[in-house]
Amino acid sequence: MASKVAEITQILSESQIQKRVSEMADRISREYSGKRPILIGILKGSYMFLADLTRRMEIEHEIDFMMVSSYDNDPHESGNVKLMLDLSRNISGEHVIIVEDIVDSGKTLNYIYHNLLMRKPKSLEIVTLLDKSERREIEIDIKYVGFEIPNRFVFGYGLDDAEMFRGLPFIAYRDEKG
Ligand code: IMP
Ligand code: MG
Repeated sequence: MASKVAEITQILSESQIQKRVSEMADRISREYSGKRPILIGILKGSYMFLADLTRRMEIEHEIDFMMVSSYDNDPHESGNVKLMLDLSRNISGEHVIIVEDIVDSGKTLNYIYHNLLMRKPKSLEIVTLLDKSERREIEIDIKYVGFEIPNRFVFGYGLDDAEMFRGLPFIAYRDEKG
């Protein structure tokens, strides 16, 4: 009987991720020195990245969260994004940094970016750990990118595969072998 075995291939190891996150925290700390930025983690995927990033930042900062859901499985609602959880404070006049796990088509981030821009922050930038730029449908200006990755579905380090594997310290994809 033929059986399908799923093998996992690591594309980013724990040490590669940790090294890169440190570099990103250093750069953000330099560029936001004296500005007390608010880092907004987009739930759920960014929780681990946000935790490591802010732990390594050497400047004063605040954190907050937003959660959005998309309806990509409904062909009539493709690209529609709904706000599920909003910020706990007003960001008018503040330096704001959106913290994402991964940018794929760009639809989620495009919604979040414009939603936050309407609240008149003093500045608004984006940091993402992963960028699947090959898949982009909407152009967005991302200031800080951790890693460019190929067009594959990945999981681990906060990212899920059907809500599983978020706790892995590395990032991997599945190789289906029949
Ligand atoms: P976008 O709106 O197409 O840019 O999709 C962004 C969102 O889709 C991310 O915030 C993730 O939650 C999810 N996503 C996209 N690609 C992956 C992946 O490879 N693994 C896990 N989640 C993903
Ligand atoms: Mg996400």
